[in-house]
Amino acid sequence: MDNYAALEWQWQMGATEFIGAEPYDWMQDILPVIVPPPVMQNVTQPLAALVPSENDINLSAVDNLSALRDALQNFDGLAIKRTATHMVFGEGAQKPRVVVVGEAPGADEDRQGRPFVGVSGQLLDKMLGAINLSRETNAYITNVINWRPPGNRSPTPQEIAISLPFLQKHIEILQPEFLLVVGGVSAKALFNIEQGITRIRGKWMDYELTGGKKIPALITFHPAYLLRAPAQKALVWQDLQSLHARLGAPPNSENATEKN
Ligand code: URA
Repeated sequence: MDNYAALEWQWQMGATEFIGAEPYDWMQDILPVIVPPPVMQNVTQPLAALVPSENDINLSAVDNLSALRDALQNFDGLAIKRTATHMVFGEGAQKPRVVVVGEAPGADEDRQGRPFVGVSGQLLDKMLGAINLSRETNAYITNVINWRPPGNRSPTPQEIAISLPFLQKHIEILQPEFLLVVGGVSAKALFNIEQGITRIRGKWMDYELTGGKKIPALITFHPAYLLRAPAQKALVWQDLQSLHARLGAPPNSENATEKN
């Protein structure tokens, strides 16, 4: 491995700093900056008490995508913002029929500042294309988390709870006909479901907007999981057909995700 490759590997693994001569308390960077350091008598406090209140994240005046992007860009409540290269907001049709909700940006997304542009994104585009959806025409893609967790670790429950109001506002602004929720992290974030993704995949849920309007939401496997477990593509194909039936047009099976 040459020096550049060794450096690249460390960066991919989440290394963001050289080791200094002086000891440093890294926990102060890992905890979201607006969360007070826990004190012994408070260790049992519920998670809700650790996340910012409505006053910390007040999105009531935000009613369009550009204002939401600015609000996120100016938000300093997540330490992962400091280790990420770019914020990954969302992209796609401005009046989408379907909004896809993923988990968090990976290395490719972090480099480009765009959601689902790596290998799992290419698979996602194929899955959408199979039912005549695309980010260019009628779909929009975003994530629960807008900055890459270092080393591609899973987002923490706190990071998810802090990011949720932004995702909810994103959906509220876009008002799609349907949500396609890919993976257990996003399903759990939106629906507070305890069951694992294999139990809830293929289920239709109702996602409720603030005014009470309900958006049908289909939960399916994450494309990154399909790359590791291609035999599961057949189940996702069923899910896509179910979404397609509700969208109301014939599936484009030539463009379909390869099945096993
Ligand atoms: N995985 C996700 O969940 N989101 C992305 O944007 C990329 C990979």
